[in-house]
Amino acid sequence: MTDPIRTLIAANWKMHGDLGWATKPAQFEDLMPAADRAHLDVLICPPAILLTALTSSAEAAHVRLGGQDIHAAVSGAHTGQMSAEMFANAGATYIIVGHSECRAAGDTDADVYAKAEAAARAGLTPIICVGETLDQREAGDALSVVQDQITASVPEISDYVIAYEPVWAIGTGKVATPQDVAEMHDAIRDQVGEGVRLLYGGSVKPANAEALLALENVNGALIGGAGLDMESLAEIAKLAPKHG
Ligand code: PGA
Repeated sequence: MTDPIRTLIAANWKMHGDLGWATKPAQFEDLMPAADRAHLDVLICPPAILLTALTSSAEAAHVRLGGQDIHAAVSGAHTGQMSAEMFANAGATYIIVGHSECRAAGDTDADVYAKAEAAARAGLTPIICVGETLDQREAGDALSVVQDQITASVPEISDYVIAYEPVWAIGTGKVATPQDVAEMHDAIRDQVGEGVRLLYGGSVKPANAEALLALENVNGALIGGAGLDMESLAEIAKLAPKHG
């Protein structure tokens, strides 16, 4: 019997927030003290420019910080870009790569692979996002699309997280059914093996989180809209099962 995988509750703030949001980790700690969440990790991925403003509050609140995307190079003439090393230096421990919003803006599986490798190079854990579109699901191709994305975008690294985020469920209020999520996550587990954290993402809210987080191969959630508000993020975190 292997140890149960620690749950990861991750908020992706996308392009939301300002310096006033530096108090949010402390708000989270008030709502759900670290002593009540020894069984899980809480992660906030703010816009990069806010990262250093959050570091002391996040550290005090035992909340981890991550970035939302990186350039694969260490440094260079890449205007507007940031490297994994820069995120590590600023206090991040995770990096989201291959989010469907970045894939829609041009990131290919090969780009995602290179970014995930770059994250590992800098000692960060990449959260590698995969997910099918509505057309692909309706054509019956959801499983093969996701399996192909994993094959092509996960490099040979030991520490990574997969986030399954059906594109049609992101920011739409449409959540995949627990049955659809279970089927997909079981297939991903077969593909990547034991030990890899598998997150579900796409309109996760306090109202639907319990059923999703209870699934055997769901080890946490990647949360957009509901992760901007610490009350809903804490409510979701409180619904994560305590293993053992
Ligand atoms: P959502 O976003 O929770 O607002 O649907 C999820 C995500 O994009 O990671």
